[in-house]
Amino acid sequence: MLDLLITSCQVIAPKSDGGPLKGAAMAELCVIDKGAVGIKNGRIAFIGTAEEAAGLEAKEKMNASGKLLSPGLVDPHTHLVFGGSREHELSLKQQGVPYLEILAQGGGILSTVRATKQATDDELFEKGMFHLNRCLSYGVTTMEVKSGYGLDRETELKQLETAAKLNDQHPIDIVSTFLGAHAIPENYRGRPDAFLEEMLTLLPEIKHRDLAEFVDIFCETGVFTVEQSKRFLEKAKSYGFGIKIHADEIDPLGGTEMACGIGAISADHLVGASETGVKMLGENDTIAVLLPGTTFYLNKESFAPARAIIDNGGAVALSTDFNPGSSPTENIQLIMTLAALKLKMKPEEIWNAVTVNAAHAIGRGETAGALVVGRAADLVLWDAPNYHYIPYHYGVNHVNTVWKKGKKVAE
Ligand code: NIG
Ligand code: FE
Repeated sequence: MLDLLITSCQVIAPKSDGGPLKGAAMAELCVIDKGAVGIKNGRIAFIGTAEEAAGLEAKEKMNASGKLLSPGLVDPHTHLVFGGSREHELSLKQQGVPYLEILAQGGGILSTVRATKQATDDELFEKGMFHLNRCLSYGVTTMEVKSGYGLDRETELKQLETAAKLNDQHPIDIVSTFLGAHAIPENYRGRPDAFLEEMLTLLPEIKHRDLAEFVDIFCETGVFTVEQSKRFLEKAKSYGFGIKIHADEIDPLGGTEMACGIGAISADHLVGASETGVKMLGENDTIAVLLPGTTFYLNKESFAPARAIIDNGGAVALSTDFNPGSSPTENIQLIMTLAALKLKMKPEEIWNAVTVNAAHAIGRGETAGALVVGRAADLVLWDAPNYHYIPYHYGVNHVNTVWKKGKKVAE
């Protein structure tokens, strides 16, 4: 006897529960047009056609005809825990002041660092809850959360502890990343190497307390060079962390090649990735996490070369990059539209990029991002007749119901 049977809707279910989808495989989306999914004890117990499900017994049957059912979405790159906000920077942007210039003047990330230092544990937690609820309302059931607005021992740990507490108390599963190397704080101005040394001293404690699985760095002009980033990430790897990188977001420095070379699980942004970098993504296991919402919000003309990455055999995941500066949005559905229009991704590729590949980009490929019998029942029912509809009808929330581990958590 099933607990719940959702039936007669279009269902997105993968052909296999294998690894990340690379290159042409990204365009393969397995869809059951008149499908059904059964849940029992918080797990997926049945996937098939409505016809096959007709004889099944269930405590509750839901006729979802005219709707779409997908796995819970995975957002693999966010800066969710932060103090304050940066709406005052919008007019600077309108005047054409570049993002890195605002940072160089002590604003941008450094302004959020000041606000995060000032915030109490409770304030950070409450604010995190507020944003998480919004992420959930848009269909996200698993996400990555970075630190990086402390840039000192105490505040970086405070952010990571907040993320751990949010993971315990909120339905969304959170995967934590230490991004202590997010900017050079005022007291280390001109001394980036000394600052990186300081951040490395946190790694044993973070590992010991299991406060993060991944370590990330902002490799960018005026922040950390490719060489510094490589040394820092290799050190993190030697402590047993998975590694990620903010690479080639604004200036094309070669972070993509470096990330592939040292075996990063993901390289993120990649707007300025070189031809060599694009080729290397196809030849290596590093997943390209693309963040078109950030490019849009930074008001840039050219977007990450998603087509070239896919056509060269690479694996692409998509994310909001939710943060108070370069991408203040929790709306991953909007990112799906930007991926269609600005990255020229096909609807099938877009769905794989916010489910299977996003899960693999944060080490959750075996448990999240796909409807597979036996896995936790993380599902989204959409007020949409088919999967093409979500990237098409933009700017609004199409979620009808979200289930996490079989429990209704948003509607
Ligand atoms: O991914 N580039 C660095 N980090 C974030 C922005 C953080 C911020 O502006 O607060 C990003 O774009
Ligand atoms: Fe980011």
